[in-house]
Amino acid sequence: MTPILRSRVRGVGAALPARVVTNAELAHRVDTSDAWIQQRTGIKQRYVAGDGETTASLATKAAEAALRHAGLETSAIDLIVVATSTPDYTFPAVATQVQASLGIVDGAAFDLQAVCTGFVYAVATADKFLRSGSNKRALVIGAETFSRILDWSDRTTCVLFGDGAGAIVLEACESDGLIASPGVIASRLRADGRHRAKLFVDGGPSATMTVGHLRMEGKEVFRHAVGMVTDVIKGCFADAGVTADAIDWFVPHQANRRIIDASADKLGIPHSKVVVTVDRHGNTSAASVPLALAVAVEDGRIKPGDLVMIEAMGGGFTWGAALIRW
Ligand code: ACO
Repeated sequence: MTPILRSRVRGVGAALPARVVTNAELAHRVDTSDAWIQQRTGIKQRYVAGDGETTASLATKAAEAALRHAGLETSAIDLIVVATSTPDYTFPAVATQVQASLGIVDGAAFDLQAVCTGFVYAVATADKFLRSGSNKRALVIGAETFSRILDWSDRTTCVLFGDGAGAIVLEACESDGLIASPGVIASRLRADGRHRAKLFVDGGPSATMTVGHLRMEGKEVFRHAVGMVTDVIKGCFADAGVTADAIDWFVPHQANRRIIDASADKLGIPHSKVVVTVDRHGNTSAASVPLALAVAVEDGRIKPGDLVMIEAMGGGFTWGAALIRW
């Protein structure tokens, strides 16, 4: 059998801000309650960046943790892709800030923006670079400080989001291409820009010369979320020639416990195989999936050989899924 190239996960890392904000604390700021937030979303607390903590600093810490976990030197990396909608600056890219902080001077580094689907887009993009043979090892990072684009007087959005970063190291390896062999096996990405008004930020460099605040029609997002993510997940199953039973771990975007449960139920994935971190992290947008991966690897749930499905849906709308043999 002629070997093919596959992108293998070598390491995982995460970084969270120092400060935890509980639902009770938010209830002092806006007209809400711990009971409402938990019942509607499953969120109990979130981390919020403080002075000196930025998307780039969190991304760098997550990257360092992933490299330590992989047992690799920074010089091994020749591609950095950062998924974020909350960069430190309009430019340069967070990825180049991470690159400089790690002392890397070779290879390519760029940001990618697909809001909450950013990490899934970044995994699929890096996978295509690695399988083409152009690059050998990639840091794929999801990093956000959504606290800085929230309207803290809007209870319908400010209770939902948190800050953080997660990273994986992907490495191009020869593979026999079998389903049992490690690496990214399938990925599906989608977008439909007609849904812009349901989830957007009302500012930006070219339109308003401001940063703006997140605006969301939560009910409308909810209405589309389950159908969209289950569609791309089924696409990945079809590409890989497997069914939902084959999955060891389902690691969905952590937006809302009810969306996670409904998606798992629609796919027939038992809740015992679903990694949930929304209770402690809130919705960290592009950071949510790699943060959840880091938690489940650290606590020993995700092990080498496991089949892991990641998925997300977010502003745009964008949505996507990827099937990875660990
Ligand atoms: N505390 C108390 N009451 C609240 C709060 C709050 N924080 N927020 C809204 N309410 C009120 C509303 O005003 C409304 O009151 P009314 O009935 O008097 O008008 C009532 O609660 C019900 O509001 P709904 O919006 O109908 O509540 P719903 O059950 O839909 O839950 C939620 C809202 C949690 C936002 C849900 O719709 C949701 O999770 N949507 C999806 C969000 C999502 O997945 N985003 C992912 C993508 S994010 C990204 O890409 C950046």
